[in-house]
Amino acid sequence: RRREAPAGDARRGLTSTPKTMLPKYFYDARGSELFERITGLPEYYQTRTELGILRRVAPLLVDRVRPTVLVEFGSGSARKTRVLLDEMRRAGRLEGYGMLDVSESALRAAAERLVRDYAGLAIECLIADFEHPRELPFPGRRRLLAFLGSTIGNFEPDAAREFLRDVAARMEDDAFLIGFDLVGDVERLLRAYDDDAGVTAAFNRNLLTVMNRELDANFDPEAFEHAVRYDEREARIEMHLVSRERQVVRLEALDLEIVFEAGESLRTELSHKYTRRSVEALLEDGGLALDFWETDPDGRFALGLARRR
Ligand code: AVJ
Repeated sequence: RRREAPAGDARRGLTSTPKTMLPKYFYDARGSELFERITGLPEYYQTRTELGILRRVAPLLVDRVRPTVLVEFGSGSARKTRVLLDEMRRAGRLEGYGMLDVSESALRAAAERLVRDYAGLAIECLIADFEHPRELPFPGRRRLLAFLGSTIGNFEPDAAREFLRDVAARMEDDAFLIGFDLVGDVERLLRAYDDDAGVTAAFNRNLLTVMNRELDANFDPEAFEHAVRYDEREARIEMHLVSRERQVVRLEALDLEIVFEAGESLRTELSHKYTRRSVEALLEDGGLALDFWETDPDGRFALGLARRR
């Protein structure tokens, strides 16, 4: 099933000050592939760190929640998901898996592999901008909801609260497992978004290629420089594309012309970093409460399990 996102959000972002774009535009087939490469980079510690925590706590989580269904937001390649699915299967309670993601190519590939590897598993795919879930797959079942990778950090704080409230309103006996990248050494955080091999820079510029195709625009990706900043006050990494010179970009689909001054930036992604305290506050605002919390030994990343208050 598919729900198309209107181009209105692109217009709003490009005509606001500073200029912004929504990170979901990163994830066409090439963007999803580039992100997969990012997850294997030496500088990008997040994915392997989260996987380590997940392996350690999966038995405990499944025992605590006793889910028959896993529902995952932003499932992507669903590699980490297997740790949870395997544990649920071992407990003899695995019935269904629901996936919500913006990338059709990533969903399709992951679903095909899962159908092959988990005989009898009911899989439901929802290709959607899952920021405002109206329905969740498998209502009435005991569900473990999962939002891994600290992707929640891509939302503006208001949007994160709203998202949690939307999900909480649809939760019954379910539990919600969320991955959080933690506040820490700023140099390490910056490097994670500015790797030596330039994969993250290519991922960032790919957003312009996607807009060229989907909004019939004429961005020259090489006319923009990849830039990463850390905002201490907001506790977040920001990715930008900075215009190397003054230029005018035309977006036919929006009948829109945008002027970039030299050095003007397009903010392409926010990636909030958390503490246990800030997570507790966020969950509380979202109508949830923290039931379980686990970090890696170095305190770089955390998994939190939330329940409805
Ligand atoms: C998986 C979306 C959370 O913000 O760390 C990685 C995306 N962007 N490198 C993140 C990303 C640049 C990633 N999220």
